Amino acid sequence: MNEDTRKRAAELRKALHRHNYLYHVMDEPEVSDAEYDRLMQELIALEAAYPELIEPDSPTQRVGALPLEKFETVAHSVPMLSLENAFGEEEVLAFDKRVRRFLNTDSQLLYTAEPKMDGVAVEIVYENGRLIEASTRGDGYTGELITLNIRTIKAVPLALLNTVSVTVPSRLEVRGEVFIPIEAFKQLNKERLDNDEPPFANPRNAAAGSLRQLDSRITAKRPLDIFCYGIGRYDDLELASHSEILQRLESMGFRVNPDIKRRAKIEDILVYYKALLEKRHEFPYEMDGVVIKVDDLALQKKLGEKSRSPRWALAYKFPATQETTRVVDIDVQVGRTGALTPVARLEPVSVGGVTVSRATLHNEDEIKKKGIRVGDTVLIQRAGDVIPEVVKVITTKRTGVEQAFQMPTVCPVCGSGVVRLKGEAAWRCVNANCIAQLKERIKHFASKGAFDIDGLGDKLANQLVDKGLLKSYADLFFLDEATTGALERMGEKSAQNLMDAIERSKQISLARFVYALGIRHVGEHIARILARSMKTLEGLEAAIKEDLEAVKGIGEEISQSVRAFFENPENQRNIERMLKAGVTIETKEAPVDEPLAGMTFVLTGALDSMTRTEAKARIEASGGKVGGSVSRKTTFVVAGKDPGSKLEKARHLGVRILDEKGLVEELSQEKRHEKG
Ligand code: IVH
Repeated sequence: MNEDTRKRAAELRKALHRHNYLYHVMDEPEVSDAEYDRLMQELIALEAAYPELIEPDSPTQRVGALPLEKFETVAHSVPMLSLENAFGEEEVLAFDKRVRRFLNTDSQLLYTAEPKMDGVAVEIVYENGRLIEASTRGDGYTGELITLNIRTIKAVPLALLNTVSVTVPSRLEVRGEVFIPIEAFKQLNKERLDNDEPPFANPRNAAAGSLRQLDSRITAKRPLDIFCYGIGRYDDLELASHSEILQRLESMGFRVNPDIKRRAKIEDILVYYKALLEKRHEFPYEMDGVVIKVDDLALQKKLGEKSRSPRWALAYKFPATQETTRVVDIDVQVGRTGALTPVARLEPVSVGGVTVSRATLHNEDEIKKKGIRVGDTVLIQRAGDVIPEVVKVITTKRTGVEQAFQMPTVCPVCGSGVVRLKGEAAWRCVNANCIAQLKERIKHFASKGAFDIDGLGDKLANQLVDKGLLKSYADLFFLDEATTGALERMGEKSAQNLMDAIERSKQISLARFVYALGIRHVGEHIARILARSMKTLEGLEAAIKEDLEAVKGIGEEISQSVRAFFENPENQRNIERMLKAGVTIETKEAPVDEPLAGMTFVLTGALDSMTRTEAKARIEASGGKVGGSVSRKTTFVVAGKDPGSKLEKARHLGVRILDEKGLVEELSQEKRHEKG
């Protein structure tokens, strides 16, 4: 190889880096795609002929050749924290006040505010100007090494730009959000459907899924993009403010969001937020709010951080995403206690990236109050993780063909009569043997907090009832392998597994047993109170109204419901049959001063009424354990505001989820056993 070849290769590398930057970061290409391809082909040919020319940051080296076995993990040298959320102006002004009080200053502070991207947070490490490592945020302390995948993102520089004119930092950790633009997401999903692959639920899932590919050749095909918004550790750089960091990042070749409001008073940040909220749907990517940061780095340092979020930053979230669609019909579902719930069947519509085709209408009064008719165009919203709901009818869209809705006068499943008791919102099917109720009762009976029968999911429960194999939950303990093995999609092995799971479930605590019975108004929490105070099943069965109501937390409504349940001969017969079949109730309940003994909690997201450290201390004081990661053994995942991937994992594993109110309820047992 002669000197000219070496020179030509260097020229090509430089030109390609520049065109890549102009195209992917600046959005201002100077050459046509064809010209770019031509230069790339020339470099590929040169490197093929002289492999010694290949450098790790050559533009030809974005895609790795071999898939990984698994992701290694790596600790972040500076934790990647999360952000406290605000949902209204008052909260933002309170934040500003808090910050100034902390800094002991009356003067105005300058903030920098940027769109809060809804993607995946990553850290990219450069040493002596070269990309050496990249990782996901993970739990904030350790993430997964996804270097090869990050290298495939064209907007990520493999080598820092402009390092000739400025100092090359010996180490620089750049942070940003990887995302997929909305149009590219739609295209990607279309291709997946064409290829018989399941579509992604939303751009964020698509970005996360793409980054978690062990084969970077797959990642390279995904339309990933990035905005960089901060740095972790940095050496050899003098930086005074966040706005200066952003400027530096830009000059080193990183893509920084162009719509950032730099160094502004808090009032102007509020105006900026409003403007973004107005036009959020015009942006080519999804954002879920605005991140407000104290601009001065010295002040940031003084402010420091709380357990999981810095005191100098705030996420001012956008309100729930709304969309309009049409009510195609209103279905009525029958629940475990016979309650009829109307559900709107909608023309499918994407709300914030998730396709919504149903929305709960709660009950008859709700439909009347909102004036919803079949055929109406309605405004629906999806807030966080909750079930989509109808906000209002767009009456101007009415054409006259819309049909008023009538609650059915008989149960839509079994045809029995329905009643609506005084003071109740729901109509109920009066037939205790209604097949819909029975199915739901059995699902409840087998669920996590109850008998926890592995493998007895919705489909199987429906099938067992439809085939007439279960007429009550007690029948579960009389199933045999021959019968279950003959069911659809039930191999010998799964039949055996189911029988084993049923057998295992027979050892059960009194609290779970009581909860499993599905007595109205007796949730997990009340079931535990009843178990602890009445000690044995016989004690509970024999308890009269006064005994029950003497227990703190048990009122008339619950005591009546409990009495009615145990006085019903059929319920008695079911209980007897279960006991005969070998169900054994362990009456050894958690000790009085340790009501949460034996339970493991995993916390995710921020709580309003206490810090995570406090929550942990209180759980432990009540005998519970707090774990770091979710597994099948986790009793509850407590999801606060802005929960992380642990929530998804909990859903995936079927671990029960408590909101903050639920946690407070569990903890409120701390001192309530005087009467037990
Ligand atoms: S700053 C300590 N800036 O929001 C500062 N975060 O809830 C923390 N995010 O995990 C990050 N856009 O994934 C910052 N412009 C932005 C952001 C942003 C999106 C995400 C990021 C982080 C999460 C914090």
